[in-house]
Formats: sequence, structure tokens, C-alpha cells
Amino acid sequence: MRAGAHLPVLCCPSCGRVGAGHWGRAVKPGGAERSGEMAAAGLRFDGRVVLVTGAGGGLGRAYALAFAERGASVVVNDLGGDFKGYGKSSSAADKVVDEIRAKGGKAVPNYDSVEDGEKLVRTALEAFGRIDIVINNAGILRDRSFVRISDEDWDIIHRIHLRGSFLVTRAAWNHMKNQKFGRIIMTSSAAGIYGNFGQANYSAAKLGLLGLANTIAIEGRKYNIHCNTIAPTAGSRLTQTVMPQDLVDAFKPEYVAPLVVWLCHESCAENGSLFEVGAGWIGKLRWERSLGAIVRGKNQPMTPEAVRDKWVKVCDFDNASKPRTIQESISVLSDALSQIESQGNISMNSTSSGSVVSSSVDTASIVGRKLGTNVYKYTHLEPILYALGVGMSTKDPDHLKFLFEGSEEFCCLPSFGVIPAQTSMFDGVPSLSGLNIDLARMLHGEQYLELYKPLPTSGELRSIATVADILDKGSGAVLLIDVNTYCGKDLVCYNQFSLFFVGAGGFGGKRTSEKAKLTAVPPQRPPDAVISDVTTADQAALYRLSGDWNPLHVDPSFAALGGFKKPILHGLCTFGFAARNVLKQFANNDVNRFKAIKVRFAKPVYPGETLQTEMWKEGDRIHFQTKIKETGEVAIAGGYVDIVPALEKPSAREPLRAGGLQSNLVFEEIGRRVKEMGNELVKKVNAVFQWDITKDGKTAMQWTIDLKNGSGAVYQGPARNSADTTFTLSDEDFMDVVQQKVNPQKAFFSGKLKVKGNIMLSQKLEMILKDYAKL
Ligand code: NAI
Repeated sequence: MRAGAHLPVLCCPSCGRVGAGHWGRAVKPGGAERSGEMAAAGLRFDGRVVLVTGAGGGLGRAYALAFAERGASVVVNDLGGDFKGYGKSSSAADKVVDEIRAKGGKAVPNYDSVEDGEKLVRTALEAFGRIDIVINNAGILRDRSFVRISDEDWDIIHRIHLRGSFLVTRAAWNHMKNQKFGRIIMTSSAAGIYGNFGQANYSAAKLGLLGLANTIAIEGRKYNIHCNTIAPTAGSRLTQTVMPQDLVDAFKPEYVAPLVVWLCHESCAENGSLFEVGAGWIGKLRWERSLGAIVRGKNQPMTPEAVRDKWVKVCDFDNASKPRTIQESISVLSDALSQIESQGNISMNSTSSGSVVSSSVDTASIVGRKLGTNVYKYTHLEPILYALGVGMSTKDPDHLKFLFEGSEEFCCLPSFGVIPAQTSMFDGVPSLSGLNIDLARMLHGEQYLELYKPLPTSGELRSIATVADILDKGSGAVLLIDVNTYCGKDLVCYNQFSLFFVGAGGFGGKRTSEKAKLTAVPPQRPPDAVISDVTTADQAALYRLSGDWNPLHVDPSFAALGGFKKPILHGLCTFGFAARNVLKQFANNDVNRFKAIKVRFAKPVYPGETLQTEMWKEGDRIHFQTKIKETGEVAIAGGYVDIVPALEKPSAREPLRAGGLQSNLVFEEIGRRVKEMGNELVKKVNAVFQWDITKDGKTAMQWTIDLKNGSGAVYQGPARNSADTTFTLSDEDFMDVVQQKVNPQKAFFSGKLKVKGNIMLSQKLEMILKDYAKL
């Protein structure tokens, strides 16, 4: 069968308009009938309640009118004082309320100061029964050159802008959280972003709002509360004193309001972003950071002179990175530490061209390249040998199920998942054309492993390795290699190897990658559990039999070439010790409960040394680090294991039943097409779709169509990061939709097709796949 998917365009059958707001109307409280002049089509807010602070004039008035026009019930808040914050009056708010009502909209006034945040939210609850959207807009000015700012002028600016926005937002927060919907806007200013003479108090408060928004965006994400920040420019009484009248007239508040309206719509996924907006133009801002420079050497003091000498490099924005999260920001520091620490451990005096990337090669052509497929056949021997290699012993009765194939519970250690994967990577990396690979200078920097089901104790596993990214860390280059390992058609595990090539940086590449799996900082408190293991003198000699034949781990002369006093233990061996300790301590040795593990290899371990795995439990994440007891040095840093909570029924992780699903064929077909034109699709779609296919009411198979990362992928199992849209439907209904026996809208409205996440994106998926696949 040449099958294809006709994917659902989720639109209202009556009007053909795509959009969740339209569907939602029936279920929303206060669902509005549109009436009078105020009936703009498109993005609607029927049933939504919006609080706009400082809505008696200027920008706030434009927002209030725009929301009301689109069906929202609006609380028009305004204290009604002058632009410096003196006086008060109800007339400003009343005028705007009258204006909205005259046009057939719904609005109530509120005359309190934003410093009484609770009262503003109470007005919304009393008048309309809920609060969905908060626009923090109220503001005043007390401009003075820096040194002339009085305490009062400093404080009142902070109280109205920063504290006021905090108080109003806090009052609305739990309502938004409980209803799992909220949209918040903070109003910053170019004066805060760039500074402006005479506005030190205002600049400080305005940029404070950005910091507030950034954190709220993170804390609200899981409750569908989004918070974005705008830095508007508009003619108003605030700008009248500094702008010529023709600009005041030209920069209409109406040229700002549509951005605010869009950011607050339920279909808008934007969160934690900053926009400049005015005159009908909108631009998004982000941080940019230079590649920077390491200014100290191992065991050497850091000096101001070294800072001066590297100053040009510190300030050089060529190939700058754009960190988006605090984790991305901090990862450069741990990289710097390991680079400094690795000096002296690795021979730096190579005569070969230092850079891992030949100057003639464009990294874009290497990223996404497949390193080939490798088949790993094994019997029960390999898992047992591996278990012995990572220190398991029959002395511990708990270990028998990993060491004896006759045990009723015989199973594979989860960390064994790196073994089939490493073979495909070892084979592929040295032959990567276009790269100057010098294995003698390669360090295994980090490792991530995620399991989708327990590993079989014998059989045939197929691993496909791909170059996920190449990073330029200055003093070295990092190759990120993604490896997917399959048993038959089922994806059993995913590995990310991060390989550090000492001295191979400086080729002008980017420093960080959104594809990199990041380590996590352990809690500050003493560890919740510590397990010590004495490694044997032959630990590396034993572990290498599992497939890592690098002579560095057994041959003293080879180790000396690398700058080591004797052969070192494999990083992945120490990793295996840590993984099994966490499994025992926090998951009762139940391999079903082991989801994922991440580590950074910080220091080499010599066979014979004692490993101390220190563990901290934080919910379902077990942070850990491995110390070398004899030296106190940290060998594995920033590690964590994610476990499945004990309460979750084991059936939830039962191997998925693949048998007999017709939809599998369709996904395989889509997979082939994505392989052919993935790059193009990723550019157009930029989204991850997950499909939960049910059989007899239970999830029988999960598929992910990733048209966001790399050159796209279709794979079995849940989305590796998160899905933008998740579809749930039965195998039969899926096939009916595919064969166009049932249209997707009908399936949706009859409840056969359930959609979670960003519904609008499904339209894109349909459009693109239909176009290209002629489905
Ligand atoms: P505006 O003066 O017309 O509007 C501000 C409103 O806030 C006024 O109606 C005022 O009565 C009200 N207000 C002041 N203190 C209040 C309080 N304690 N409680 C409740 N309401 C209060 O000024 P505009 O230009 O519309 O400014 C709106 C927001 O945009 C402000 O936060 C301002 O800092 C910001 N902004 C404006 C720019 C522009 O070019 N207009 C540039 C950058 C930021």
C-alpha cells in the first residue's frame, strides 16, 4: 500500500476559520454574543477577561479598545493622575469605559493604583468572574539627571512600574494557574534596554520588568501562563514633552496594540520574549555573547594582565553565541573549567592543523550527516560481561539478576545502552570526511542516554549515528553525535556523545547548541546517599572487553603519549558504576524505572582508585557526582538520572505493543519522505508532532514526526524533547482519516481525534505533507 496521511486541518466546519478561540467559545464562561460595532473577526477573545492597567489614555486605552473589539471583557484601570504621578481622578478610566460600551463592548472601570494589585484583580472577578490576561502598562515619569534623583523620585518610579506590575500579576497568578491559562504583558522601554540621559530611575525599573518577566515565563510555562515584554514607542502624554508633535501623531498607540493582542491570544505560543514595537514595525530582541576567552592556566593565578592581553578576544563578537537559557549561559563555564583542567592531561603539542574543521569545509554540510548504521548482535554474554566491567559482583545478592542468565529476573543494566551505540560512533567518526580528526587528542566530554524500554538481554540492535552539531569552544572543538538504537522497528534508546578535540577550536563556529543535552548542577546540601566502590587494578582491562578497545586504557606507553602516568579507566566505566548505584539506591534495581542519564567527564580515574557516587534526590531526578576518594577530585560532574516514579503503574512502561498496527506503515512512509526532504520541511514547519495511536482504548504505539530539529526525523516513541502538538486517536480512526473516509474535522468534533498543544501547527503539517507527499 502506498499510504499517506491526510492530516487534520483543525478548523470550524461552519465557517472554515482555523483557530482554537473560536471552538472554545461554547465552553467559556461568559461566552459572548458579538454585537454592535465591536465585532472584529480573526483572533477572538470571547469569554476572556482582560485587565489593562493605566488604560485611561495613551497605549493602555488602545489595548483596552482592541481587546474589547475582539470580544473580551475589559477592566479599564487608571488612577487618573498627571504624568508625574500627582493627583487622581476617575474620569480617565470612565471615559474609556464609556467609549467601549458605546461601541457595544464590555468594560468596567477601576480607579485604584497598581500598588493595590489585589483590588484590580478583585474588580475583574466581581464584574466578570475570572481573569485571563493582565497588561501591565500603567506608568509615570520623574526624569532627572542621575545625581539629582531624589529618594522619592527613585522610589515612586520603582513602586509604580516594577512593584505595581509585580503586585497586580501576583494577585492574578493563582487564578491563571488554576484555570491553566494566563497571558501577561510587561511594559519595558528602550530607555531600560539602552539607557537614556535623565532616566536612570525609569531605566532601572523598566529593565527590572524584563528580569521579572523572564522568570515568570519559566515558572508559568507548565500552567500555560505566558509572559512577554514589550518596549513600545508611541505618541502619548509621556512622550509629548520629548517628541515633536508630528512624531507624536505618527507613532499611534494603535500601531502597538496588535502585538499585545496577538501575544495574549491562546493560540500564540510565544513566551519569555522581548519585542520592540512602534510605527507599525515589530522586532524581537535576544542576547548575544562573544565566544570569549580563557584567561587562566591550570594551577596558575588569574591576573588582570592576562585579562588585558585577551581583551580583544573577550570583546570579539565574531561567531557570537545567543544563549537563551541560564543553562546555556552557564554551560560555557563548566566547559572552561574542564578545558583548563584538561591542560596537561592531554598532549597539546601536535603538529597537525589544530582545527577539527578544515577551512574549506562548511560545518552546515557536516551537521546532520549520517555516520552509518551499525548492527550489534549479542547473546546474554555481553550484558553479563558489561555488568562485571562496571563492578557488579555475585557477593551482592541484588546483582545476581544482572550476572546470571538463569535468574528469573535476568536483565540488562540500563547503562549497557551505550555499548551498541558506541560501536556505530567509533566506526563513523574517524572517517568523517572534511574533518581533521586526531583521535589522540579526543576526550569523551559528556554522555547522555535515554531509554524507551528495557534493553533486550540478547538479540540484534541497529544503531544509526548522526552528527548533531559541531561546536567551537575556542581551545577545542566539540562534536555532538546522536545515536538512535533500534530493536527491529522499535527505538529502544537514544545516546548523545559529546566528543572534545583538544586544541581544535578557533575555526569560527558557534559555541553552544540547542541540540546539546545539558548537565545539571547538584543541590547545595550534603548528598542524600553516598556509595563507595573500590575499582580493581584490572577494571579497565575488564571493561574494554565490552567494546572500547582504545589502548589508552590498557597500554602504558600509549597512555604516556597522552600525558597520563598510567592507563586510565574508561569514562563510561565510571558512568556505569554511577548508573547502577542510582538504580539500586533510588529505583530498587528496577530497570523499568530508569529513564535517562547525563554526565560530564571531568577528571580521569586510574584503575584501583575508589569511586564515591554522591546522590541527591530532587523529585524524579537523581543528581549525582562521582568523586575519587583518594584525591577528592570530581571525576563525573553535573550528572543526573531521571527515574520513573514508583507509584506509576509498571504497565505505563510496558513495551509498546507494535503488533498489527496499520498506522505503522503510514508513519514509515512519512519517515521515508522526511528523509528525502527533511531539511526543507524543517524550515517550513519548525514543529514537533507526537502521535499516540490507541488500540482497545490503550496507547499501543507512539510516533514522533520531528520537523524542527536537524533535518527532521520520524521515529517511534514520544518526542525526545517536547512535542508542540500531540494527536491521540485509534489505529482504525487514523486509517479512516488517512484514507479520507472520515475528515479530520469530523474526527475532532466527534471526539475520536484528540489534540493537545498548539493546534494551529497541525494545519502547517497538513499543508506541507500534502504538498510534498501528494498524500
Ligand atoms: P500615558 O501617560 O498615556 O499612560 C499611562 C497611564 O498610566 C496614564 O493614564 C496614568 O494615569 C496611568 N497611571 C499612572 N500611574 C498609575 C497607577 N499608580 N495606577 C494606575 N494607573 C496609573 O503613557 P503611555 O505612553 O501610554 O505609557 C504606557 C506605558 O508604556 C508606560 O508604562 C510607559 O512607561 C511605557 N512606555 C511608553 C513609551 C512611549 O513611547 N509612549 C515608551 C516606552 C515605554
